[in-house]
Amino acid sequence: MSKSKLIAGNWKMNASLEGSAALVRGVLDGLAQAQPACDVAMCAPAPYLAALQGWLAGQSAVQPGAQDVSAHASGAYTGEVSADMLRDFGVRYCIVGHSERRQYHGETDELVAAKTQRALAAGITPIVCVGETLAERDGGHTEEVVRRQLAAVIHVNGHCITEVVVAYEPVWAIGTGKTATPELAQQVHAALRAQLRAASDHADRIRLLYGGSMNAANAASLLSQPDIDGGLIGGASLKAADFLAIVAAAR
Ligand code: PGA
Repeated sequence: MSKSKLIAGNWKMNASLEGSAALVRGVLDGLAQAQPACDVAMCAPAPYLAALQGWLAGQSAVQPGAQDVSAHASGAYTGEVSADMLRDFGVRYCIVGHSERRQYHGETDELVAAKTQRALAAGITPIVCVGETLAERDGGHTEEVVRRQLAAVIHVNGHCITEVVVAYEPVWAIGTGKTATPELAQQVHAALRAQLRAASDHADRIRLLYGGSMNAANAASLLSQPDIDGGLIGGASLKAADFLAIVAAAR
């Protein structure tokens, strides 16, 4: 069955409130000229989510997203943000298990699976990131690593896995300007799809995004691969023109 692609911007810890407002305005202006053929999300830093909700009010072309969520429902977890809190600000998507969270904050496969479950319970679509490091790729372990990361999420979330978006982001391609070739990305996406098919009768509905130095120049060839259903965009989501060009390539 056909599904619309998803282009999600991951601003990470970049920009100012003012700069973010200008970015959103630029993207919305662009999309008003040319309606997107795909779903679009912008994942902002947590303190900007209230403002983002306001900037995106009254339109449906772009949905608000967050970059992380607590694995806990509520309680004594200083500094954390719960899924219900995100929901209060209209958040529709939440990145979970980004490699920067796994690498710098020690997030394990089990924690990522628990965060995924929290987001789903709050009615937020998790964008679950998986991906291998350069050493893992060079060691021939790419599929083993991404399958292990995804298996933990499937194990905890069962049939709800159909409500999840999965993003394959090779760690060596993030922010480095090195993109996986479309063929190489497709190969991993096909492996992930096969794993999802074994877990769900509706695996073909699940959107598999590619992330890692996707930009205006390489988006079309990546997005034309049969199992690439969208993109998770870091650096190129910070400039309206670049982000709009990637959205335009997703059809
Ligand atoms: P990048 O980041 O597009 O800057 O490589 C992607 C991501 O980390 O989600």
